[in-house]
Amino acid sequence: MSDQTTEQAPVGESNVPHPTDEAGIQHAVDAALAAIEAAGDLNELKEARLAHTGEKSALSLANRQIGKLDKSEKAVAGKLVGGARGRVNKALAARTVVLEEAEAARILIEETVDVTAAARRRRVGARHPLSVLQDRVADIFVGMGWEIAEGPEVESEWFNFDALNFKPDHPAREMQDTFFVEPADAHLVLRTHTSPVQVRSMLERDVPVYVLCPGRTFRTDELDATHTPVFHQFEGLAVDKGLTMADLRGTLEHFARQMFGAEAQIRLRPAYFPFTEPSAELDIWHPGAKGGPRWIEWGGCGMINPNVLRAAGIDPEEYSGFAFGMGIERTLMFRNDVPDMHDMIEGDIRFSQHFGMEI
Ligand code: FA5
Ligand code: MG
Repeated sequence: MSDQTTEQAPVGESNVPHPTDEAGIQHAVDAALAAIEAAGDLNELKEARLAHTGEKSALSLANRQIGKLDKSEKAVAGKLVGGARGRVNKALAARTVVLEEAEAARILIEETVDVTAAARRRRVGARHPLSVLQDRVADIFVGMGWEIAEGPEVESEWFNFDALNFKPDHPAREMQDTFFVEPADAHLVLRTHTSPVQVRSMLERDVPVYVLCPGRTFRTDELDATHTPVFHQFEGLAVDKGLTMADLRGTLEHFARQMFGAEAQIRLRPAYFPFTEPSAELDIWHPGAKGGPRWIEWGGCGMINPNVLRAAGIDPEEYSGFAFGMGIERTLMFRNDVPDMHDMIEGDIRFSQHFGMEI
């Protein structure tokens, strides 16, 4: 035997038909056609192609042996094996077309776009109308040369009450229902109004003082159409030589007209606050009020009580001042005809959006 015939057999050679073995070749073709027909998708078809037409497939290996045959056998074998491979390749091509069509149809169905489905819209955010209004209030006062002041929301009882002339056992302390912060001996409260910033501002600054303090305030009020336990106020404070009630009224009138238009009307009603003397309740004429036009309380105001000036180290003989405090939620109610405060605090973006995209 020559070296050629004893050379090491390729993998699977034992199943490899002799290139002139008609039945063996047909057997290999049948196996290939069966595998091609059985392939359910393009991946399976790729495996069948590899197994039956790849380098190590029976037909490829049989084909390789042709070169070693006698000339007389070569022609027979060439025709036999070539024809067999041709049939397998034809079957592969036909199956490929079928499976590609099936794949395209599947994708069409699976990735169908339902053009009648409701579009998923991404909602645009909007600043809350209370924030926008708070900025607008601040702008009006900044326009008059006032400064903006801030104070803490968790406030010491001293600033929230004592420095404002609320006596320790005075029932006035109960005027505003207070959230006290534990432990009790820390004497901290959630500020019930922005008035503690009056004293803070006077202690921090030199006279004359003209400041506006917008901010969040807290009371144990029940949520209803005109009250919420967490609300906002803006506090105005002016301390200078010779300020009178006329200056207070003029300032409030100017502010009301800037806020509500040239026709806006305000009214001062005598009232009591421990930190102002005289004190007044400030009403605004609300032509669009629910239930008809009427005066509605907007805030409180008055001339700063001399005791408060003294607590802030200012000589009441030399200086006088006025202060006022209004609710921002109430302002929004009057200005934009929002009949119910629930809408302002529920955080529904649709409420904010109908005020437009004011920045
Ligand atoms: C005060 O808070 C005083 N500090 C106002 C003041 C300042 C007087 C400076 C004198 C000098 P009053 O408790 O009335 O006052 O509250 C003022 C305003 O805050 C009310 O008129 C109202 O507009 C608003 N307000 C009060 N409680 C609530 C609440 N629970 N929800 C919404 N707004 C409120
Ligand atoms: Mg009041």
